[in-house]
Amino acid sequence: MEKQIEELRSSFEEDLKNVKTLKDIESLRVTYLGRKGNLTTILRGMAALSTDERPRMGSLANQLKTFIEERLAGRARELEASETKELIDVTLPGRMPRKGSIHILNQVLTEIEDIFLDLGFQIASGPEVEDDYHNFEALNIPAFHPARDMQATFYFSDRLLLRTHTSPVQIRVMESNGLPVRIIAPGKVYRSDSDVTHTPMFHQVEGLWVEEGITFGHLKGVLEAFIHTLFGRDVAVRFRPSFFPFTEPSAEVDIGCVICKGKGCRVCKDTGWLEILGSGMVDPEVFKYVGIDSEKVTGFAFGLGVERVAMLKYGIDDIRLFFENDLRFLTQF
Ligand code: DAH
Repeated sequence: MEKQIEELRSSFEEDLKNVKTLKDIESLRVTYLGRKGNLTTILRGMAALSTDERPRMGSLANQLKTFIEERLAGRARELEASETKELIDVTLPGRMPRKGSIHILNQVLTEIEDIFLDLGFQIASGPEVEDDYHNFEALNIPAFHPARDMQATFYFSDRLLLRTHTSPVQIRVMESNGLPVRIIAPGKVYRSDSDVTHTPMFHQVEGLWVEEGITFGHLKGVLEAFIHTLFGRDVAVRFRPSFFPFTEPSAEVDIGCVICKGKGCRVCKDTGWLEILGSGMVDPEVFKYVGIDSEKVTGFAFGLGVERVAMLKYGIDDIRLFFENDLRFLTQF
């Protein structure tokens, strides 16, 4: 029997040399250690041995069993290691970490600011929680004036509200700065309104230039320069008479439809024109509120919606896309 055990060990060592996969290991285990395996058969034959032979043979057979188990496990570990190595394709390009980018609204806002900074404007700001006086009254919109209905206001109290436009910054700047004033005031504004072109919070840029000798010609020159820089030299611009309580005369400014180039389409409602901002000469009533003598100085003001400008510039048809933070939208810019 001792010879049988020795032969089994050398045949196992031979077989182990031919093992190439984890499956081979498993079938070798069955061949030697399985229920009908070679070594199992030998162990079963122990019963037939004499009592003085049995302990020594038992111990030899068990040593072989441990030996086989250890060698199989060792070979299995080697194979596992090399099989996972094959899963790593070192020729693949590396994975790039994702880079963040500046939100499209901030890109457009920066562009707008840069144009006006080049034209000699400074940047001013005011509070988003405003009082009735600055948001309405000093802009010549008294209580019960119908113009208040144009702006669906969020109120905190009779006196406090979320500003509905950036125009109150005009008042604050004229109250606290000396003349001349040449500012833009970008910022958030709030209105109780929500659909494809309105969100309850959006952004405006206010502009104000007050100085001796300012005329409607300055207003036209500045706004045309702004639009041509932002939308390109060949975009058409027109000034259309309008009304705002804080300017007189007032004009809304349209550009030739960027979608259909003036031919008429759904976006411009077949007019060929798109409104992009409101403007006008500062109303003498407004100057009264801030103690400026309208006989000595004049000024012009304007206000534009940043989302609207971005939508026109990039052909975006739903304002809510700006605020949903969907990377499929944001990473396009
Ligand atoms: N404040 C106006 C609005 O939110 C926009 C506006 C129009 C501002 C004419 C102006 C202006 O300064 O002159 O609808």
